[in-house]
Amino acid sequence: MLSQDLANIKEEVLESIEKANDLKELNEIRVRVFGKTGLITNISKGMRDVLPEDRPKVGALINEVKTAIECKLQEKIELLENIELNKKLEEEKIDITEPSKDSELGALHPITDVIDRLTDICVDMGFSVVEGPEIETDYYNFEAMNIPKNHPSRDMQDTLFITEDILLRSQTSAVQAREMEKRKPPFKIVCPGKTYRNDNDATHSPVFHQMEGLVVDENISMADLKAMLTILMKRLYGEDTKIRFRPSFFPFTEPSIEVDVSCPSCHGKGCSLCKGTGMLELLGAGIVNPKVLEMSGIDSKKYRGFAFGFGLDRTSMILNSINNIKNLYRNDIRFLEQMKK
Ligand code: PHE
Repeated sequence: MLSQDLANIKEEVLESIEKANDLKELNEIRVRVFGKTGLITNISKGMRDVLPEDRPKVGALINEVKTAIECKLQEKIELLENIELNKKLEEEKIDITEPSKDSELGALHPITDVIDRLTDICVDMGFSVVEGPEIETDYYNFEAMNIPKNHPSRDMQDTLFITEDILLRSQTSAVQAREMEKRKPPFKIVCPGKTYRNDNDATHSPVFHQMEGLVVDENISMADLKAMLTILMKRLYGEDTKIRFRPSFFPFTEPSIEVDVSCPSCHGKGCSLCKGTGMLELLGAGIVNPKVLEMSGIDSKKYRGFAFGFGLDRTSMILNSINNIKNLYRNDIRFLEQMKK
Protein backbone atom coordinates (compact mmCIF):
# COMPACT_ATOMS: atom_id res chain seq x y z
CA MET A 1 0.00 0.00 0.00
CA LEU A 2 1.39 3.39 -1.10
CA SER A 3 0.67 5.27 2.11
CA GLN A 4 2.39 2.58 4.13
CA ASP A 5 5.44 2.78 1.86
CA LEU A 6 5.51 6.54 2.31
CA ALA A 7 5.27 6.23 6.07
CA ASN A 8 8.15 3.74 6.07
CA ILE A 9 10.25 5.95 3.84
CA LYS A 10 9.56 8.95 6.03
CA GLU A 11 10.51 7.14 9.19
CA GLU A 12 13.65 5.59 7.73
CA VAL A 13 14.87 8.78 6.04
CA LEU A 14 14.21 11.02 9.05
CA GLU A 15 16.14 8.57 11.19
CA SER A 16 19.15 8.47 8.85
CA ILE A 17 19.14 12.29 8.71
CA GLU A 18 19.17 12.32 12.49
CA LYS A 19 22.16 9.98 12.53
CA ALA A 20 24.13 11.75 9.78
CA ASN A 21 27.42 13.21 10.99
CA ASP A 22 28.46 15.48 8.17
CA LEU A 23 27.24 17.47 5.17
CA LYS A 24 28.50 14.85 2.71
CA GLU A 25 26.31 12.20 4.29
CA LEU A 26 23.31 14.55 4.15
CA ASN A 27 23.90 15.12 0.47
CA GLU A 28 23.94 11.39 -0.16
CA ILE A 29 20.60 11.10 1.62
CA ARG A 30 19.18 13.91 -0.49
CA VAL A 31 20.22 12.10 -3.68
CA ARG A 32 18.86 8.80 -2.36
CA VAL A 33 15.45 10.43 -1.72
CA PHE A 34 15.04 13.13 -4.35
CA GLY A 35 17.54 12.04 -7.06
CA LYS A 36 16.49 10.78 -10.51
CA THR A 37 15.83 7.31 -9.18
CA GLY A 38 15.32 8.45 -5.59
CA LEU A 39 12.71 6.97 -3.26
CA ILE A 40 10.26 9.88 -3.48
CA THR A 41 10.92 10.39 -7.18
CA ASN A 42 9.98 6.78 -7.86
CA ILE A 43 6.83 7.01 -5.80
CA SER A 44 5.83 10.18 -7.63
CA LYS A 45 6.29 8.33 -10.89
CA GLY A 46 3.89 5.62 -9.54
CA MET A 47 1.07 8.20 -9.42
CA ARG A 48 0.14 7.06 -12.91
CA ASP A 49 -1.23 3.81 -11.47
CA VAL A 50 -3.28 5.50 -8.74
CA LEU A 51 -6.99 5.82 -9.32
CA PRO A 52 -7.89 9.37 -10.36
CA GLU A 53 -10.14 9.89 -7.36
CA ASP A 54 -7.36 8.85 -4.97
CA ARG A 55 -4.73 11.07 -6.60
CA PRO A 56 -5.34 14.27 -4.59
CA LYS A 57 -5.04 12.36 -1.34
CA VAL A 58 -1.92 10.48 -2.37
CA GLY A 59 -0.44 13.68 -3.85
CA ALA A 60 -0.99 15.50 -0.59
CA LEU A 61 0.58 12.62 1.29
CA ILE A 62 3.65 12.62 -0.94
CA ASN A 63 3.96 16.37 -0.48
CA GLU A 64 3.73 16.07 3.25
CA VAL A 65 6.50 13.45 3.39
CA LYS A 66 8.59 15.49 0.99
CA THR A 67 8.22 18.65 3.10
CA ALA A 68 8.96 16.79 6.31
CA ILE A 69 12.16 15.36 4.85
CA GLU A 70 13.24 18.67 3.36
CA CYS A 71 12.62 20.49 6.64
CA LYS A 72 14.57 17.91 8.56
CA LEU A 73 17.41 18.07 6.03
CA GLN A 74 17.55 21.84 6.24
CA GLU A 75 17.51 21.75 10.03
CA LYS A 76 20.33 19.26 10.13
CA ILE A 77 22.42 21.21 7.58
CA GLU A 78 22.14 24.32 9.73
CA LEU A 79 23.05 22.38 12.82
CA LEU A 80 26.14 20.82 11.22
CA GLU A 81 27.21 24.14 9.70
CA ASN A 82 26.96 25.76 13.09
CA ILE A 83 29.04 23.06 14.70
CA GLU A 84 31.66 23.45 11.97
CA LEU A 85 31.72 27.24 12.36
CA ASN A 86 32.12 27.03 16.11
CA LYS A 87 34.91 24.52 15.70
CA LYS A 88 36.70 26.86 13.29
CA LEU A 89 36.21 29.87 15.57
CA GLU A 90 37.58 27.89 18.44
CA GLU A 91 40.64 26.85 16.41
CA GLU A 92 41.34 30.37 15.16
CA LYS A 93 40.80 32.04 18.45
CA ILE A 94 43.39 34.76 19.18
CA ASP A 95 44.54 35.28 22.70
CA ILE A 96 45.17 38.99 22.82
CA THR A 97 46.66 38.68 26.27
CA GLU A 98 49.43 36.37 25.05
CA PRO A 99 52.86 38.09 25.15
CA SER A 100 54.15 38.90 21.63
CA LYS A 101 57.39 37.68 20.09
CA ASP A 102 60.39 40.01 20.51
CA SER A 103 60.14 42.89 18.06
CA GLU A 104 63.23 44.40 16.44
CA LEU A 105 64.21 47.77 17.80
CA GLY A 106 65.17 50.31 15.11
CA ALA A 107 67.93 52.88 15.28
CA LEU A 108 68.46 56.39 13.97
CA HIS A 109 70.14 56.70 10.59
CA PRO A 110 73.81 57.69 11.14
CA ILE A 111 73.22 61.06 9.43
CA THR A 112 70.18 61.82 11.59
CA ASP A 113 72.23 60.76 14.60
CA VAL A 114 75.07 63.15 13.75
CA ILE A 115 72.62 66.02 13.08
CA ASP A 116 71.01 65.37 16.47
CA ARG A 117 74.35 65.33 18.26
CA LEU A 118 75.67 68.50 16.61
CA THR A 119 72.47 70.50 16.95
CA ASP A 120 72.18 69.42 20.62
CA ILE A 121 75.66 70.79 21.33
CA CYS A 122 74.91 74.03 19.42
CA VAL A 123 71.53 74.52 21.09
CA ASP A 124 73.34 74.18 24.44
CA MET A 125 75.53 77.08 23.30
CA GLY A 126 72.51 79.23 22.49
CA PHE A 127 72.05 78.57 18.74
CA SER A 128 68.64 78.31 17.06
CA VAL A 129 68.12 75.54 14.50
CA VAL A 130 66.70 76.71 11.14
CA GLU A 131 66.10 75.21 7.73
CA GLY A 132 66.16 76.52 4.18
CA PRO A 133 64.94 75.28 0.78
CA GLU A 134 66.90 72.62 -1.12
CA ILE A 135 65.76 74.08 -4.44
CA GLU A 136 67.42 77.47 -4.25
CA THR A 137 67.93 80.57 -6.35
CA ASP A 138 71.29 81.45 -7.84
CA TYR A 139 71.12 84.61 -5.76
CA TYR A 140 71.07 82.99 -2.31
CA ASN A 141 73.38 80.09 -3.19
CA PHE A 142 76.01 82.23 -4.91
CA GLU A 143 75.52 85.94 -5.47
CA ALA A 144 74.58 86.85 -1.90
CA MET A 145 77.61 84.79 -0.81
CA ASN A 146 79.90 87.06 -2.80
CA ILE A 147 80.15 84.67 -5.74
CA PRO A 148 79.03 86.70 -8.78
CA LYS A 149 77.79 85.17 -12.03
CA ASN A 150 80.63 83.89 -14.25
CA HIS A 151 83.18 84.28 -11.44
CA PRO A 152 85.90 81.58 -11.35
CA SER A 153 85.17 80.87 -7.66
CA ARG A 154 82.01 79.09 -8.85
CA ASP A 155 84.27 76.29 -10.07
CA MET A 156 84.83 75.22 -6.45
CA GLN A 157 81.39 73.58 -6.55
CA ASP A 158 80.05 71.39 -9.38
CA THR A 159 76.55 72.75 -9.22
CA LEU A 160 73.37 71.07 -10.50
CA PHE A 161 71.35 73.79 -12.21
CA ILE A 162 67.61 73.44 -12.90
CA THR A 163 67.32 76.68 -14.90
CA GLU A 164 69.76 79.52 -15.29
CA ASP A 165 68.58 81.03 -12.01
CA ILE A 166 67.36 78.01 -10.07
CA LEU A 167 69.54 75.21 -8.74
CA LEU A 168 69.83 72.45 -6.17
CA ARG A 169 71.69 74.21 -3.38
CA SER A 170 75.36 73.28 -3.40
CA GLN A 171 75.96 74.52 0.15
CA THR A 172 73.92 75.28 3.24
CA SER A 173 75.65 78.69 3.16
CA ALA A 174 72.63 79.65 1.03
CA VAL A 175 70.64 79.85 4.27
CA GLN A 176 72.98 82.55 5.65
CA ALA A 177 71.66 85.38 3.48
CA ARG A 178 68.04 84.25 3.90
CA GLU A 179 68.39 84.42 7.69
CA MET A 180 70.38 87.67 7.71
CA GLU A 181 67.59 89.34 5.72
CA LYS A 182 65.00 88.12 8.25
CA ARG A 183 66.80 88.61 11.56
CA LYS A 184 68.09 91.54 13.58
CA PRO A 185 71.57 90.97 15.15
CA PRO A 186 72.69 89.62 17.51
CA PHE A 187 71.75 86.06 16.52
CA LYS A 188 73.24 82.57 16.36
CA ILE A 189 71.85 79.97 13.98
CA VAL A 190 72.71 76.52 12.73
CA CYS A 191 71.16 74.99 9.63
CA PRO A 192 71.55 71.26 8.91
CA GLY A 193 70.28 69.87 5.61
CA LYS A 194 70.77 68.22 2.25
CA THR A 195 73.09 69.70 -0.35
CA TYR A 196 73.76 68.64 -3.96
CA ARG A 197 76.78 68.55 -6.26
CA ASN A 198 77.75 66.76 -9.42
CA ASP A 199 80.29 64.55 -7.61
CA ASN A 200 80.27 60.78 -7.25
CA ASP A 201 82.91 58.43 -5.80
CA ALA A 202 83.73 56.58 -2.55
CA THR A 203 83.93 59.82 -0.55
CA HIS A 204 81.45 61.94 -2.57
CA SER A 205 77.75 61.49 -3.16
CA PRO A 206 75.61 63.75 -5.40
CA VAL A 207 73.35 64.22 -2.38
CA PHE A 208 75.16 64.91 0.86
CA HIS A 209 74.60 66.84 4.07
CA GLN A 210 76.06 69.98 5.58
CA MET A 211 75.45 71.99 8.69
CA GLU A 212 75.95 75.70 8.47
CA GLY A 213 76.55 77.88 11.49
CA LEU A 214 76.35 81.67 11.60
CA VAL A 215 76.86 84.11 14.46
CA VAL A 216 76.35 87.86 13.99
CA ASP A 217 77.07 90.22 16.84
CA GLU A 218 79.18 93.23 17.81
CA ASN A 219 82.90 92.63 18.45
CA ILE A 220 83.04 89.16 16.91
CA SER A 221 86.60 87.99 16.33
CA MET A 222 88.55 84.97 15.13
CA ALA A 223 89.12 84.10 18.80
CA ASP A 224 85.35 83.56 19.27
CA LEU A 225 85.23 81.29 16.25
CA LYS A 226 88.25 79.28 17.40
CA ALA A 227 86.92 78.90 20.93
CA MET A 228 83.46 77.90 19.80
CA LEU A 229 84.73 75.30 17.29
CA THR A 230 87.19 73.88 19.82
CA ILE A 231 84.38 73.27 22.31
CA LEU A 232 82.20 71.79 19.57
CA MET A 233 84.93 69.39 18.35
CA LYS A 234 85.86 68.26 21.83
CA ARG A 235 82.26 67.57 22.75
CA LEU A 236 81.78 65.59 19.56
CA TYR A 237 85.02 63.60 19.42
CA GLY A 238 86.23 63.64 23.04
CA GLU A 239 88.20 65.95 25.34
CA ASP A 240 91.64 64.77 24.17
CA THR A 241 90.93 65.70 20.53
CA LYS A 242 93.58 67.97 18.98
CA ILE A 243 92.39 70.75 16.69
CA ARG A 244 94.33 72.43 13.90
CA PHE A 245 93.33 75.63 12.10
CA ARG A 246 94.73 76.18 8.61
CA PRO A 247 94.40 79.28 6.44
CA SER A 248 92.08 78.72 3.50
CA PHE A 249 89.85 80.56 1.07
CA PHE A 250 86.08 80.99 0.74
CA PRO A 251 84.53 83.90 -1.18
CA PHE A 252 82.12 84.73 1.66
CA THR A 253 84.59 84.71 4.58
CA GLU A 254 87.72 86.79 5.15
CA PRO A 255 89.93 85.54 6.66
CA SER A 256 88.98 81.90 5.98
CA ILE A 257 90.18 78.77 7.70
CA GLU A 258 89.85 75.03 7.44
CA VAL A 259 89.67 72.96 10.58
CA ASP A 260 91.30 69.57 11.11
CA VAL A 261 90.91 67.27 14.11
CA SER A 262 93.20 64.50 15.32
CA CYS A 263 92.01 61.19 13.91
CA PRO A 264 89.65 59.64 16.49
CA SER A 265 90.59 56.18 15.24
CA CYS A 266 94.42 56.32 15.78
CA HIS A 267 94.60 59.44 18.00
CA GLY A 268 97.06 61.14 15.68
CA LYS A 269 99.44 58.23 15.06
CA GLY A 270 98.35 57.67 11.46
CA CYS A 271 96.02 54.98 10.09
CA SER A 272 93.97 54.14 7.01
CA LEU A 273 91.11 56.44 8.05
CA CYS A 274 93.37 59.52 8.13
CA LYS A 275 95.58 58.18 5.30
CA GLY A 276 98.58 58.15 7.63
CA THR A 277 98.44 61.87 8.42
CA GLY A 278 96.97 61.60 11.92
CA MET A 279 94.59 64.48 11.14
CA LEU A 280 91.22 64.73 9.38
CA GLU A 281 89.86 67.76 7.57
CA LEU A 282 86.39 68.51 8.91
CA LEU A 283 85.04 71.92 8.06
CA GLY A 284 85.44 75.32 6.51
CA ALA A 285 84.93 78.53 8.46
CA GLY A 286 85.85 82.16 8.71
CA ILE A 287 84.89 85.71 9.56
CA VAL A 288 81.94 86.73 7.39
CA ASN A 289 83.09 89.05 4.59
CA PRO A 290 81.64 92.54 5.38
CA LYS A 291 80.37 92.65 1.80
CA VAL A 292 78.13 89.66 2.54
CA LEU A 293 76.70 91.36 5.63
CA GLU A 294 76.01 94.56 3.65
CA MET A 295 74.29 92.71 0.80
CA SER A 296 71.81 91.28 3.32
CA GLY A 297 71.18 94.65 4.94
CA ILE A 298 73.37 94.33 8.04
CA ASP A 299 75.52 97.32 9.07
CA SER A 300 79.08 95.98 8.75
CA LYS A 301 80.50 98.96 10.68
CA LYS A 302 78.56 97.89 13.75
CA TYR A 303 78.32 94.12 13.36
CA ARG A 304 80.62 91.29 12.47
CA GLY A 305 80.01 87.62 12.08
CA PHE A 306 81.62 84.23 11.87
CA ALA A 307 80.41 81.25 9.90
CA PHE A 308 81.28 77.57 9.68
CA GLY A 309 80.16 74.70 7.46
CA PHE A 310 80.42 71.02 8.35
CA GLY A 311 80.28 68.08 5.98
CA LEU A 312 77.92 65.83 7.93
CA ASP A 313 78.50 62.68 5.86
CA ARG A 314 82.21 62.94 6.55
CA THR A 315 81.59 63.60 10.24
CA SER A 316 79.35 60.54 10.42
CA MET A 317 81.83 58.37 8.49
CA ILE A 318 84.58 59.33 10.95
CA LEU A 319 82.40 58.78 14.02
CA ASN A 320 81.26 55.35 12.81
CA SER A 321 84.38 54.18 10.88
CA ILE A 322 82.45 53.99 7.59
CA ASN A 323 84.76 53.74 4.58
CA ASN A 324 82.33 54.31 1.71
CA ILE A 325 79.86 57.18 1.67
CA LYS A 326 77.46 55.08 -0.46
CA ASN A 327 76.73 52.91 2.58
CA LEU A 328 74.88 55.88 4.05
CA TYR A 329 72.42 55.90 1.12
CA ARG A 330 71.90 52.22 0.25
CA ASN A 331 69.43 51.53 3.05
CA ASP A 332 71.00 48.09 3.42
CA ILE A 333 69.50 46.70 6.60
CA ARG A 334 72.72 44.77 7.41
CA PHE A 335 74.65 48.06 7.44
CA LEU A 336 72.01 49.93 9.42
CA GLU A 337 71.91 47.07 11.97
CA GLN A 338 75.57 47.79 12.73
CA MET A 339 74.74 51.41 13.49
CA LYS A 340 72.72 50.44 16.56
CA LYS A 341 74.47 51.73 19.60
N1 PHE B 1 80.06 76.44 2.20
C1 PHE B 1 81.44 76.01 2.28
C2 PHE B 1 81.56 74.74 1.44
O1 PHE B 1 80.58 74.12 1.13
C3 PHE B 1 81.83 75.74 3.71
C4 PHE B 1 81.88 76.98 4.55
C5 PHE B 1 80.80 77.38 5.27
C6 PHE B 1 83.06 77.75 4.63
C7 PHE B 1 80.83 78.53 6.06
C8 PHE B 1 83.11 78.86 5.40
C9 PHE B 1 82.01 79.27 6.12
O2 PHE B 1 82.65 74.35 1.06
